[in-house]
Amino acid sequence: MYRTHYSSQITEELHGKKVKVAGWVYEVKDLGGIKFLWLRDREGIVQITAPKKKVNEEVFALIPKLNSEDVIAVEGVVNFTPKAKLGFEIIPEKIEILSRADSPLPLDPTGKVKAELDTRLDNRFMDLRRPEVMAIFKIRSSVFKAVRDFFYQEGFIEIHTPKIIATATEGGTELFPMKYFERDAFLAQSPQLYKQIMMASGLDRVFEIAPIFRAEEHNTTRHLNEAWSIDAEMAFIESEDEVMGLLERLVAHAINYVREHNEKELKILDLELEEPKLPFRRITYTQALEILKDLGKEIPWGEDIDTEGEKMLGQYIKETYDEDLYFIYQYPSEAKPFYIMKYDDKPEISRAFDLEYRGVEITSGGQREHRYEKLKEQIAEKGLKVESFEFYLKAFRYGMPPHGGFGLGAERLLKQMLNLNNIREVILFPRDRKRLEP
Ligand code: 4AD
Repeated sequence: MYRTHYSSQITEELHGKKVKVAGWVYEVKDLGGIKFLWLRDREGIVQITAPKKKVNEEVFALIPKLNSEDVIAVEGVVNFTPKAKLGFEIIPEKIEILSRADSPLPLDPTGKVKAELDTRLDNRFMDLRRPEVMAIFKIRSSVFKAVRDFFYQEGFIEIHTPKIIATATEGGTELFPMKYFERDAFLAQSPQLYKQIMMASGLDRVFEIAPIFRAEEHNTTRHLNEAWSIDAEMAFIESEDEVMGLLERLVAHAINYVREHNEKELKILDLELEEPKLPFRRITYTQALEILKDLGKEIPWGEDIDTEGEKMLGQYIKETYDEDLYFIYQYPSEAKPFYIMKYDDKPEISRAFDLEYRGVEITSGGQREHRYEKLKEQIAEKGLKVESFEFYLKAFRYGMPPHGGFGLGAERLLKQMLNLNNIREVILFPRDRKRLEP
């Protein structure tokens, strides 16, 4: 065993005791009669202090020969002393080099020398050695845990649906085509049809956390070609409002979980996460257009609210109510996919909603059309071939309860939560218009 403790686990009770720490060489300082070495591991940095009189010759001679980012294991005695910057040091008895680091390094892991995002992503393993970057991925891990915990608490069952599929769900333009033996297939852009089919199975409340693939041509700061979607679908709902209720509690739970469990990481990122106020504000699409009109931006009724409009609304909600999260609902039916239910008494309006986080859409969802005949009509209305959906429609002929759900973009949620400029910051190895490696 090379390591008995992470840096953060060295507490005062260990004073005078022997420990083993392991990690990367952060810095070496040679003051002649005393040599210092700072070692970085996942949790932080430890100081190794080697006064000539207190350590053996071999250890003393080795320290100046270490290079930045060499991987080492150190065995030594803990010494709590106000003289050490961190309050303690380790007096080494043995230092072992486990792996040498070449120089120059592809980027500076101390962050003192700034690097372009592209260089950072090309050298992601080294980028992650910077505490601010590692903090993002520790928070990402927390968000996924919080989301899973929440769904289990709420009686949801985790499902896994195919990622190689035959039909589009969210419009045909953003699909990645592929060859599936003799046939044409696509990478899944959403588990939409499958999670709906599950509503006919009796599983009632399901969720899936999986990648979605979208052939977005444009290179933006909020689109990826491979993203992670947190999908849910629930049956026996009376309206889309029940789905919105679940979603707002889920997002609030994830944010509060990070507030509680990632204090250290939030501090590294210099971020104060506010506790979200429940319930989230709900504004109708029509109200949103009116607000935008007052702000000087006119969008014709029926058209999607563009990026600029979304941003303006986000600012307005923040300035007026000091809120970050809000729903836009009752979208025009023509702006939403075929599977969304329309209001029976007002078919131009749909039961679809989006959840916005500071002016960026992080989720879309709604109540689905579960009535077979109406669903078939809606498929045809959108100019799609009813025959291509037979595998899906079949599930609506033998007892399909009313249902609804949502798709929450994990990277969008994280980007907005952590106030980052670029969605690529929150995914380890982003896939975008140019990036297929690493
Ligand atoms: O709005 P979208 O396309 O909706 C659906 O996929 C529906 N099947 C959801 C439902 O259950 N009705 O995608 C849902 C969310 C978006 O709000 C966004 O957060 C994320 O998925 N998303 C992307 N994230 C990053 N890059 C992309 N290219 C994304 N496309 C969608």
